[in-house]
Amino acid sequence: MNRKDVFDLTDRVIVITGGLGQIGRQFTLELIDRGAKVAIFNRRIPEDAILSERFPLDPERLAFFAVDITKKASVKAGLDALVARWGVPHVLVNNAGIDTQPSAPPEVSGPFEDFPEDVWREVLEVNMTGTFLCCQAIGGAMAKLGRGSIINVGSIYGMLSPVQDIYAYKEAITGTPFIKPVAYCASKSGLYNFTRYLATYWGRKGVRANILTPSGVRRDTQDAQFQANYCQRMPIGRMAEEDEFNGALIFLASDASRYMTGSNLVVDGGWTAW
Ligand SMILES: NC(=O)c1ccc[n+]([C@@H]2O[C@H](COP(=O)([O-])OP(=O)(O)OC[C@H]3O[C@@H](n4cnc5c(N)ncnc54)[C@H](O)[C@@H]3O)[C@@H](O)[C@H]2O)c1
Repeated sequence: MNRKDVFDLTDRVIVITGGLGQIGRQFTLELIDRGAKVAIFNRRIPEDAILSERFPLDPERLAFFAVDITKKASVKAGLDALVARWGVPHVLVNNAGIDTQPSAPPEVSGPFEDFPEDVWREVLEVNMTGTFLCCQAIGGAMAKLGRGSIINVGSIYGMLSPVQDIYAYKEAITGTPFIKPVAYCASKSGLYNFTRYLATYWGRKGVRANILTPSGVRRDTQDAQFQANYCQRMPIGRMAEEDEFNGALIFLASDASRYMTGSNLVVDGGWTAW
């Protein structure tokens, strides 16, 4: 029997914002392997020589566009160039995001009362406004064709407040308290209802919108104490590897999830199960 593969993404045109980052690169490699055409929208695009160390540079399957998602004109220019090359995309992955790392300096990791307004605005600008602008332009183009899948990338810290105890050890090292900042959490939480809004707005126009919720990914730059504290709170006992959200992405991008919209797919090692 010749059954159609519901996960098939052959020749689907897929935009990944922030595709040069840790998770975005894994999404890109997985999608290319599955025969999709991936357009990376990233604020800065390095030279080919640097890119070739990280990606198979196949112009039929992978294209790079220097797009600042916080600028409407930049998103439009990127979309126009992509449409001229491969046509209107089938999938938009709003993956670009910024956060304050555990290694952040004290002025952005201090008490909530002192959290700088400019950093608050900058984080909301990328995580919320950038996602809004990409959905408006690219989602709008997909809706005109009556098909498409939008995948917003959320975070467990957009669903739940951070466990500040995980970061408390830093005070003994730096002499100043470390508070996981508010801006990232607030910006990510906004994406949940934004996603539901899009799902209902475009529900009958063939464009689906869902959100994928990852938990923390292991990075070599994290210190051992941070990793130990995080893993102790994590039911599955370890941080995620950077490719462990690929399966969820393929599901949301493909026809396998064709009856799913407005949903939150949580891939978090059990973090939100306590
Ligand atoms: N890594 C984690 O532990 C983790 C956990 C939960 C959720 N997430 C979310 O997953 C997504 C990817 O995370 P990551 O760790 O791979 O991030 P990353 O920092 O490795 O990569 C982010 C990418 O976004 C790009 N970018 C930033 N601002 C941009 C802009 N204005 N326009 C275009 N591109 C821009 C950066 O250049 C970078 O390539 C983010 O939305 C993040 O919040 C990550």
